[in-house]
Amino acid sequence: MTSSILVTGGAGYIGSHTCLCLLETGYSVIVIDNLSNSSIESLNRVQNITGKPLDFIQGDVRDETLLNEIFKKYSIDAVIHFAGLKSVGESIVKPIEYYDNNLHNTLTLCRAMTRARIKKLVFSSSATVYGDPKGKAANEQFPVGGITNPYGTSKLMLEQILTDIYRSDNEWNIALLRYFNPVGAHASGLIGEDPNGIPNNLMPYISQVAVGLRPYLSVYGNDYSTPDGTGVRDYIHVMDLAKGHVAALKWLTTNPGIRAINLGTGVGYSVLDILHAFEKACGKSLPYKIVERRAGDVAICYSDSSLAKELLGWQAQYNLDDMCKDAWHWQVNNPKGYKG
Ligand code: NAD
Ligand code: UFG
Repeated sequence: MTSSILVTGGAGYIGSHTCLCLLETGYSVIVIDNLSNSSIESLNRVQNITGKPLDFIQGDVRDETLLNEIFKKYSIDAVIHFAGLKSVGESIVKPIEYYDNNLHNTLTLCRAMTRARIKKLVFSSSATVYGDPKGKAANEQFPVGGITNPYGTSKLMLEQILTDIYRSDNEWNIALLRYFNPVGAHASGLIGEDPNGIPNNLMPYISQVAVGLRPYLSVYGNDYSTPDGTGVRDYIHVMDLAKGHVAALKWLTTNPGIRAINLGTGVGYSVLDILHAFEKACGKSLPYKIVERRAGDVAICYSDSSLAKELLGWQAQYNLDDMCKDAWHWQVNNPKGYKG
């Protein structure tokens, strides 16, 4: 029998790629999204690429009545919970909105799931919970904390809340997926990352420089103790990340409990590595300026991803050239994102 998955925030960047993988794997997919940071066009394209339909409900995950209706209407087996606000900088300016959305929506979802007796949950956490891993490959046993912004704090609080929910009722099966830095796009160039306004993150910013929307990249500091002085991160292709969710879902069905699992490649690249790889992908040199460090940034953050391999049988397949090629393909085909 086909399993049905409710995907919250499924119209967004990671959600849309995951919906595509779920449909291709044979799941039926129901999405709830309030479209506050996305466009329905992403899901139209997911259905075109896969040739398979999904059900879309426009609404807010904080709306418990709506969730109850969805759980009554559909026979849902598990939930993948992407919905939330995700900008580190914005969260410092708007802490109330961030705590309200990220905490309130997850609590509401868990209450509705409990009522409907659906207790399988894949949760979007983040490498940000590690704070500063001090130059070491972060594994799941690393201490968490030392976070400098409300967005990251909300993710750590939610990991704790979900752990408490599991302790109160061990029928729950929960995967806390700690993503490193998702980049790239589906190889079709039809779906990808569509940031609102000026991108905060490196790869979408570089893409916009490459397509002529921004004059140059500001490199935030070249005096870190890294090989070239610029910040090092673990960039992971969004399609690898999406497949990691499908692997986590399969694992959940037979493994009760709650586990935090890293989804990264285990390889760190510097800002200049990314810039040069992108230059190769787009075939032109890209202007940049070295500027002050960005407040709150750590020098190095990359994963130890061996647990995902051991538990989920998953490991990243795409390399940095693939990530840049696919990000560029999406950017060139959609210079204004889903807007035109
Ligand atoms: P995104 O903004 O593209 O997707 C989130 C989606 O949730 C959007 O479509 C938005 O409209 C929707 N949404 C927000 N609040 C909602 C609500 N209350 N009810 C219904 N829908 C709501 O972000 P993304 O990059 O796809 O990230 C997905 C998840 O992964 C987020 O929880 C994010 O914090 C987490 N994450 C992202 C990154 C990253 O770098 N992209 C890294 C680590 C973790
Ligand atoms: N950077 C620049 N210039 C830019 C943007 C970024 O030099 O215009 C640098 C940053 O200083 C950092 C690196 O590029 O060294 C990566 O920065 P991003 O903003 O792309 O990513 P972060 O590692 O800061 O954070 C991202 C997400 C967080 C998430 C974290 C871990 O934004 O939400 O990855 O998953 F928590």
